[in-house]
Amino acid sequence: MIRLEQFENGFEYLELENELCKAKIALQGAHLFSFDPKSQKPIIWLSEKSHFKLGSAIRGGIPICWPWFGDHSDDSTLPKHGFARTSLFDYEILKDEKALSQIKFVLKSSKSSLTLWPYAFELNVIFTLCDTLHIELNTKNCDEKSFSITQGFHTYFKVSNVQKTSILGIENKTYLDFLVKKDFVQDRPLVIDKEVDRIYKAISNDIEIVDGETQINIKTRGSNSTVIWNPWIEKSKTMSDMSIDSYKNMLCIESANVLDDFKVIKPDESCSLSVTIS
Ligand code: BG6
Repeated sequence: MIRLEQFENGFEYLELENELCKAKIALQGAHLFSFDPKSQKPIIWLSEKSHFKLGSAIRGGIPICWPWFGDHSDDSTLPKHGFARTSLFDYEILKDEKALSQIKFVLKSSKSSLTLWPYAFELNVIFTLCDTLHIELNTKNCDEKSFSITQGFHTYFKVSNVQKTSILGIENKTYLDFLVKKDFVQDRPLVIDKEVDRIYKAISNDIEIVDGETQINIKTRGSNSTVIWNPWIEKSKTMSDMSIDSYKNMLCIESANVLDDFKVIKPDESCSLSVTIS
């Protein structure tokens, strides 16, 4: 079952349920904001203070950062993490089966996108949902000139206590600590106990979150960079859509193409980034 629902203010989303999971995906941003596999605890975090209104990004779930990740490289007045997460997508239901749902979201260049980013494109986001969640982000260059993008699935994971949660798969990897703008090497699995904003480089393996008995596996294809973020206490206080202590139950592990891992796409060519969360 997949049906179109809306909040009181008219903000629309698809609600779906099959034998293996339940999920909600907003039409703004093709933004999944709930995924509950029936065989385990919910694994995606959503802020109880998130805004659901057109033009504001949802705080939590899986924002899609595109066609640039973070601040725009030349113009800081442009929207952070690009404009996809605040754009309305069209959608098509590809499969609505007993144990599997598949939905394609589409965003095409428009007059308003061309004022922010001067290229013709088609962006497809395909969600495949069963007991696992698979998302593929496909960028097609419909322009006459090449363009380059940075991008990412800015996934917010729900954990029972971030200070008792380990992140594995980044050991011995170099990361840029965005807070001090310096490179370091991760010498052991990461346990977050302060504000963290890091870009791990040369990551081609899976990442695991170990939260007590729960293990979450993140398998990314088409990227070599993983961003790990938790705003901790002081930063959370500056954010209107995070409650004071919600940093304790969330962490972002973002499958991304950032820094030198940007993608150049030639006319008529496509590029794909995907993540499977299980
Ligand atoms: C992370 C960035 O990906 O996103 C952080 O590395 C940023 O620097 C965070 O603060 C949240 O961004 P936003 O725009 O959703 O508040």
